[in-house]
Amino acid sequence: MAKEKTLYTCTECAATSPRWLGKCPGCGAWNTLIESVAEAPGAGKNRLSAPQYAGLTQAQAVTPLAAIEATEVARMASGIEELDRVLGGGVVEGGVALIGGDPGIGKSTLLLQAMDALQRAGLPTLYVTGEESGAQVALRSRRLGLEASQVNVLAEIQLEKILATVQATQPAVCVIDSIQTMYSDQLTSAPGSVAQVRECAAHLTRLAKATGIAVILVGHVTKEGAIAGPRVLEHMVDTVLYFEGDTHSSFRLVRAIKNRFGAVNEIGVFAMTERGLRGVSNPSAIFLSQHSEPVPGSCVLVTLEGTRPMLVEIQALVDSGGPSPRRLSVGLERDRLAMLLAVLHRHAGIASSDQDVFVNAVGGVRISEPAADLAVLLAITSSLRARALPKGFIAFGEVGLAGEVRPAPRGQERLREAAKLGFTVAVVPKANAPKKPIAGLTIHTVERVEEAMQVVRGLE
Ligand code: TYD
Ligand code: MG
Repeated sequence: MAKEKTLYTCTECAATSPRWLGKCPGCGAWNTLIESVAEAPGAGKNRLSAPQYAGLTQAQAVTPLAAIEATEVARMASGIEELDRVLGGGVVEGGVALIGGDPGIGKSTLLLQAMDALQRAGLPTLYVTGEESGAQVALRSRRLGLEASQVNVLAEIQLEKILATVQATQPAVCVIDSIQTMYSDQLTSAPGSVAQVRECAAHLTRLAKATGIAVILVGHVTKEGAIAGPRVLEHMVDTVLYFEGDTHSSFRLVRAIKNRFGAVNEIGVFAMTERGLRGVSNPSAIFLSQHSEPVPGSCVLVTLEGTRPMLVEIQALVDSGGPSPRRLSVGLERDRLAMLLAVLHRHAGIASSDQDVFVNAVGGVRISEPAADLAVLLAITSSLRARALPKGFIAFGEVGLAGEVRPAPRGQERLREAAKLGFTVAVVPKANAPKKPIAGLTIHTVERVEEAMQVVRGLE
């Protein structure tokens, strides 16, 4: 059989070229051409059909929205509560989930545990491993204490064989670990290339939709932290989950950044133990480091992740820098940090242009919400002045370019959580002031950055 013709398609504008080119002839973008399979001639002709031929293609029936029965999606709860929470209640029939994260963070471990739980709940499962041998997976399952596990394992990387096996064995849930190791016969490029990843994911997605099998894809991440392969991978699937956390600490976060069947930004919290990942059902205090006395450069933030408030310590170190001072942040956006330093200078008169500024969210947690701004600023000024914030202090609130402090969503809930954990002093945006006082918590409300600085000085 002749090899199917390959074509190079631009990932930006979808222009095609018969040869690989560095620059796209369509939109002029660089390095965007990727190999793809040329469509069969028959299919090609259809696409060319001019309006005068439109009548030759059979029209399809259309249905008004109201006439379509809106059935709730069928879910299979894995029984691993924290995972079900991020998925929005469980694995969805015919749904495709993509789970990404750094190597060694626990993707394979979590999925093996989830597959075993589903299998024990009576659902047939298939675990396709392209990275490890069956023996290695078995070894891991023994470590996890899953001696009698009935999960079916297939060590295979060729897509066509996997599709045939899935169709023959009819599992309810199928894990592909990982999508970057799979390759299709149809393409000549190597496994892991953009074309292969896209092609394999497309086939597996089609399989899920056609058969109702839930497919979970494991994806590698690039150095920048995005899932390797084309962006279309994230568009193709129903759910995108990211594993976060510091591999040196035992806590792991699984965050939903896209979910067609549930809330986004919901997180599941796990602790890595010698027997696999354990759910942490009450995670609000795990991202605090233990200082016996308050130290300069540390401010606790109440952040709201999904539906749960969590307390996270923000640490800052401001130290005299060289001719071009550095601004580094871990777990927080660096651009946001630069903006906050500018606001601090302009509106509170606190200059740091000759200082190195380092900011860190404790425990490897990533904070994307702007409600962290005020805590970041207070940690920075605390370090700059070498004065610790008072004991039991928390803050949250978004800071705007005009120096205003804007409210954070669901402020009362955040304050109540802080009070529950024994915090006693809070600086929050004015609009977040609770209507009734919260027992044990003194609340200072502020409208502007300079006001916040004043309040804090008054507390020292
Ligand atoms: P793994 O699931 O293989 O990571 P990924 O698939 O994301 O690359 O996780 C491996 C890490 O987890 C490894 O560093 C060892 C650790 N681990 C434990 O601490 N306890 C355990 O029970 C298991 C199975 C792994
Ligand atoms: Mg793995």
